[in-house]
Amino acid sequence: MYPAGTLRIHELTAEERAVYATLKPERLPEHVAIIMDGNGRWAGHRSLKRFLGHQQGAKSVQLVTETASRIGLPWLTLYAFSLENNLRRPRAEVNFLMRLLKTYLEANVQRMMDNNVRMKYIGRTHELPAEVQEKMRWAEEATAGNTGTTLTLALNYGGRSELVDAFRSLAAEMKLKHIGPDRITEEDIHRHLYTAHMPDPDLLIRTSGEMRLSNYLLWQIAYTEIFVTERLWPDFRGIHLLEAIADFQRRERRYGGLSEGAGEEAERIKIAAG
Ligand code: FPP
Repeated sequence: MYPAGTLRIHELTAEERAVYATLKPERLPEHVAIIMDGNGRWAGHRSLKRFLGHQQGAKSVQLVTETASRIGLPWLTLYAFSLENNLRRPRAEVNFLMRLLKTYLEANVQRMMDNNVRMKYIGRTHELPAEVQEKMRWAEEATAGNTGTTLTLALNYGGRSELVDAFRSLAAEMKLKHIGPDRITEEDIHRHLYTAHMPDPDLLIRTSGEMRLSNYLLWQIAYTEIFVTERLWPDFRGIHLLEAIADFQRRERRYGGLSEGAGEEAERIKIAAG
């Protein structure tokens, strides 16, 4: 259950409220991560330019974030621009995505304030154009005091490069403190990730049907439940987030252990066998 005072269920649409009513409040995820895929296909199906798919995708970012904030979801992390997108997409598309990000931040900071949303970023953001970084800093600072959902955009992000950056900074720390490699723990690696300040995702959603992780949060998703939908990102709305959470709540998370019943069953078998 999320902290009291953060819920704004009355602001959900009637359809969203109906799905929300089926959820178990004590088993809501704390952190949802999303691979937003299918903008290009959405545009292609309508004989539109890919850019328009991205533009519609930005609308989905706004609406899904607002639903997340209404149900009091503490952490929402969206894969907005990968290192591979930066290297492999045509320059015109990369430039469009950068402009879209800038205009998105300009147009949405007030809405983020109204929805108590705090803006953060992960990735090699220092490699993005200076004017984009400036706008990102502005949005982050303006929303820093908000206490509802933290919306993290993964920008110029890659899971492997995050691990490289983490190992580099951990190695530097170890050298400074004269610590040997045999003393490295999982906690040390966690402390040096971009995501050190947040819990690991409980649920990873991928839109547009592909069954891959695309180098997203590789360390953090070790025990994350994965939900893949055929729906393309520009068609994804708050109600689909709630449906994914409903599906998540039907899963049993065992973290490598046994299910609740299975533990007792194993005990019974042991006793019966003498
Ligand atoms: C995948 O669609 C999506 C992206 C490459 C980037 C995600 C960008 C947005 C949702 C819009 C802007 C976001 C913000 C935060 C303003 P694709 O182009 O790979 O689709 P395809 O696989 O159908 O070609």
